[in-house]
Amino acid sequence: MVKRRCSSLKETSEFFATQAEWTAPMRRHLYRKAGLRRKSAVLDAGCGTGEVTAEIAGLTGGSVTGVDSEGRFIEYASGQHHGIRFIRADCEDLPFKDGTFDLVTCHFLLMWASKPALAVKEMTRVLEPGGILLACAEPDYGGRVEYPEHPEFTSALDSSLTGKGADIRIGRRLGVLFREAGLGVEVGVSATVWDGELLKRRFEGKRGRFSRDLETVLEKGEAERVLGEESSQVKGGKMLMVPLFWALGFKPVLD
Ligand SMILES: C[S@@+](CC[C@H](N)C(=O)[O-])C[C@H]1O[C@@H](n2cnc3c(N)ncnc32)[C@H](O)[C@@H]1O
Repeated sequence: MVKRRCSSLKETSEFFATQAEWTAPMRRHLYRKAGLRRKSAVLDAGCGTGEVTAEIAGLTGGSVTGVDSEGRFIEYASGQHHGIRFIRADCEDLPFKDGTFDLVTCHFLLMWASKPALAVKEMTRVLEPGGILLACAEPDYGGRVEYPEHPEFTSALDSSLTGKGADIRIGRRLGVLFREAGLGVEVGVSATVWDGELLKRRFEGKRGRFSRDLETVLEKGEAERVLGEESSQVKGGKMLMVPLFWALGFKPVLD
């Protein structure tokens, strides 16, 4: 019998915070490119428990709003991060007028949006002309490079993520999604080579999550065996690289 287990909100927020640490250098670079410091109204779409939203609020003098479809994340974020407006809302149907924001950002949202094209169109609608849409980090597991390989682990993990609604190859789609929404686009990619001690720390940080994910597609004993084999590879000095794509979208100024 395949099971689904839940993690606590605190655990989820700690995981989001750790994940945000991995992509921090990339975000800092992208915030500069997007001119975050000078923006007056910023929306963080799919803000989760608000760790990245709080970072944004610390880097701009403008107002900051975070939206997420999960009410429990919004409640948690509101209790943790003061001075930021958190609203429960669907990024595919945002409760804001056209042109409300001069910067809309997201971080690991589009991979999870059920209709990413619609989410990009909605985020573009609420941008003022001349505003910027910034997708900071969207993975593409189709571009994963690892040595040694472990197809049993990667295919079970991919099936689990796909089963939970993720588009595990969203990274490569960013340019097309942004252009279809009428944006001028700059797309880029960044990737950390997780090797040796670095991969060991990442693996231990995600071990509970991997275990829960594997158990959505494998029997418990099988999941433990596959995870154990992956753990041995990691201890043996495995390397892993998953490309993370970013995109900056520029909404045309009307004349
Ligand atoms: C991987 S989490 C990232 C959270 C946060 N951006 C961060 O980096 O810590 C993805 C988030 O997107 C939210 N999400 C997914 N689809 C959404 C949608 N259509 N509208 C609003 N939020 C959505 C999920 O609830 C989840 O909190």
